[in-house]
Amino acid sequence: MPKILVARPIFPDVIERLKQYFDVDWNQGDVLAADELKRRLADKDGALTAGEPIDAGVLAAAPRLRVVSNMAVGYNNFDMAAFNAANVLGTNTPDVLNESTADFGWALMMAAARRIAESEHWLRAGKWQKWSYDGFLGSDLYGSTLGVIGMGRIGQALARRAKGFNMQVIYHNRSRVAPEIEAELNAEYASKQDLLRRADHVVLVVPYSKESHHTIGAAEFALMKPTATLTNIARGGIVDDAALVEALRSKQIAAAGLDVFEGEPHLNPDLLSVPNVVLTPHIASATEATRRAMANLAADNLIAGLGVGPRAGQPPNPINPDVIGKARS
Ligand code: GLV
Repeated sequence: MPKILVARPIFPDVIERLKQYFDVDWNQGDVLAADELKRRLADKDGALTAGEPIDAGVLAAAPRLRVVSNMAVGYNNFDMAAFNAANVLGTNTPDVLNESTADFGWALMMAAARRIAESEHWLRAGKWQKWSYDGFLGSDLYGSTLGVIGMGRIGQALARRAKGFNMQVIYHNRSRVAPEIEAELNAEYASKQDLLRRADHVVLVVPYSKESHHTIGAAEFALMKPTATLTNIARGGIVDDAALVEALRSKQIAAAGLDVFEGEPHLNPDLLSVPNVVLTPHIASATEATRRAMANLAADNLIAGLGVGPRAGQPPNPINPDVIGKARS
């Protein structure tokens, strides 16, 4: 039986599925440190990860490893050049999380715009003595302009929901989406600068890469409206969190919603003392149904990628399909 490492706790019934095909080493404890990850991968044919960094050094320490299946749509933890050089297949879990993640983007955006977390903390602290006409004034979503940066599958799901809020949708993306999608979403392409100047609510849904690092920093906050909100459901590092702290403190923008952070789970401590930001611990895809779908899809990718099961050799979500069938190098 091929040997695999499941690097994190996941649903036990998914482990049972994997055990039908593999000898499973399951880490049910803390996130594995880099040297422990290498040690546990040394004799493995496959791995199921959820954000563990896999680079040339890790692959060199795991000469039998042929497939690494990430339980996430984002795979910036994989050095794909190293995967390709070693003929190791990487897979991810797209699509199954689109709607849950888009829902959560709205939840964060609405919480930021209407100051839900901030006012709830104030209430819990026993500060509510009387209703006041100007308590926790926020900004409207209905009838406002939504700016989506990153119009992929999740960005589109997010934009689709704007119809019910009678919002104007503008978007920025590396390339324009097909005219029929623009028409369906009633979305107008804009340059990043134009979008930042015009949007009342900016949401980030771009994959992380060297190119998207600090897509939003001091120069971008300077373009935004003082009433605007910024929501990041993409990846830490797409926003310059230190610059965001300054923009929120100085009221250069009104509020922010963050589900992802630079250096998470150790976030910039200054964020904790800024009232006009809603902070959640990377849970945008976290519904029972969606996390189950992601775990099962990650298992499907690993099973098929390692050449067993009903779809042997045809994993549903190969990132680098060209390496399929090539000998490990
Ligand atoms: C979560 O962050 C994912 O990439 O699926």
